[in-house]
Amino acid sequence: MARAGEGIGFRYPWRHRTAADKRNIDIRAEDGVKPVLFYYNHVLVLLVAAVRATALKQVRLRMRNTILVTGGAGFIGSNFILQQMRDESVAIVNLDKLTYAGNPHNLESVASDRRYEFVHGDIGDRGLVGGLLEKHQPNAIVHFAAESHVDRSIRGPEDFIRTNVDGTFALLEETRAYCSALSDETRKRFRFLHVSTDEVYGSLGPDDSPFCETTPYAPNSPYAASKAASDHLVRAYHHTYGLPTLTTNCSNNYGPFQFPEKLIPLMILNARDGKPLPVYGDGKNVRDWLYVEDHCEAIATVLHGGRLGETYNIGGWNEMPNIEIVHTICDLVDDAAPPGPTSRRKLITFVKDRPGHDRRYAMDARKIERELGWKPKATFENGIRKTVRWYLENEEWLRNVTSGSYRQWMATHYSS
Ligand code: NAD
Ligand code: DAU
Repeated sequence: MARAGEGIGFRYPWRHRTAADKRNIDIRAEDGVKPVLFYYNHVLVLLVAAVRATALKQVRLRMRNTILVTGGAGFIGSNFILQQMRDESVAIVNLDKLTYAGNPHNLESVASDRRYEFVHGDIGDRGLVGGLLEKHQPNAIVHFAAESHVDRSIRGPEDFIRTNVDGTFALLEETRAYCSALSDETRKRFRFLHVSTDEVYGSLGPDDSPFCETTPYAPNSPYAASKAASDHLVRAYHHTYGLPTLTTNCSNNYGPFQFPEKLIPLMILNARDGKPLPVYGDGKNVRDWLYVEDHCEAIATVLHGGRLGETYNIGGWNEMPNIEIVHTICDLVDDAAPPGPTSRRKLITFVKDRPGHDRRYAMDARKIERELGWKPKATFENGIRKTVRWYLENEEWLRNVTSGSYRQWMATHYSS
């Protein structure tokens, strides 16, 4: 009877040979050579197949519409990747540093897709960025990576300058070098899309017209100033070096995967847990809210049809004072989660205002509608319902992101 490793096609050459084995080999000396050769052939065939598969994957990736996304493990970036991956012709390389706000679990559903590759690293690492561009030859870069929370920028602006300004500069420099080596044909198709914010325009009075693309910049927080600086660099790289850039400036987003330090997810979480709902100042600051999937579609629209060197404002045509948002969340959580003894609205606590707190943002999004036909699809009523349900149903995601460092931030920030 054949024993493991012998007689059935190939022999393990590293296996210690017993006297019985030797007898067998002697008896079947002629045949014994063949299985050993077969084994080496087998390894060779496997090796060749592996090398070929890797090469083919690279070719396929190059032939596809490959997008290098920065900051794709964050809130908007992961929504963008999930949306883009629905298109079979798109391949994504996601470069993310995984700061406290980056979470690879957001992308679990595409993690094993051969069209998706995650790279853990910093946009400021020029060697890494240059190598990725060289290797993947993307047709586009969509740049989300940033420090994004205003309150954190007030407590510690340095990281904001490092990533949002220096990081964007490094990315632009590597992109410039990459572009200069492309053929004319490929360069013509290449795009660098910079994702920015309405906060660069400063603050509106109650009767002011919404921000439009020609509103002068007037940033008021270190975060807004760092984003404004990055917008200026992107603009300069277009005008000076002819880099094919596009910039989008968007209003406040909400939806799945937003880190619960921002107003909407923070309020949902605290309301669910019966904790105080900290509203800054008088709660009458106004923001223009847009469902995140609409923002991602707007970015894709600009990427495909935007005019080079232009900026496009994106917004929800949905201005609301913070207190109204918090009331809506309280009522939705009351309806959905096991009822507390009283309405969640009783948890609202007015706390010390944010320094330099912008009073009102509103976006005039007529240019993107006129030129590219984009307008938001989700109503706030629907979007906020979906969002509250998502947070209440995704207990494990919340457990993962509300780790020790999250609790430390909450304790430091809301105790002073
Ligand atoms: P986020 O904080 O949720 O995610 C930022 C991501 O960038 C994280 O995954 C983080 O790990 C990554 N990152 C940070 N520093 C990095 C670095 N040096 N190198 C590589 N990766 C790094 O942010 P978000 O809310 O998803 O915002 C994404 C972009 O959209 C930002 O540029 C932000 O300014 C802009 N924006 C956000 C909003 C909003 O309402 N959230 C609105 C308009 C514009
Ligand atoms: O406008 C676009 C910007 O929206 C993005 O560029 C930023 O990355 C994003 O963080 C967001 O900035 P805001 O400062 O507007 O978002 P935030 O969720 O921090 O606050 C929204 C409003 O709610 C703001 O007026 C401050 C207020 N607020 C916020 C928190 C966290 C509170 O009243 N209490 C809170 O605890």
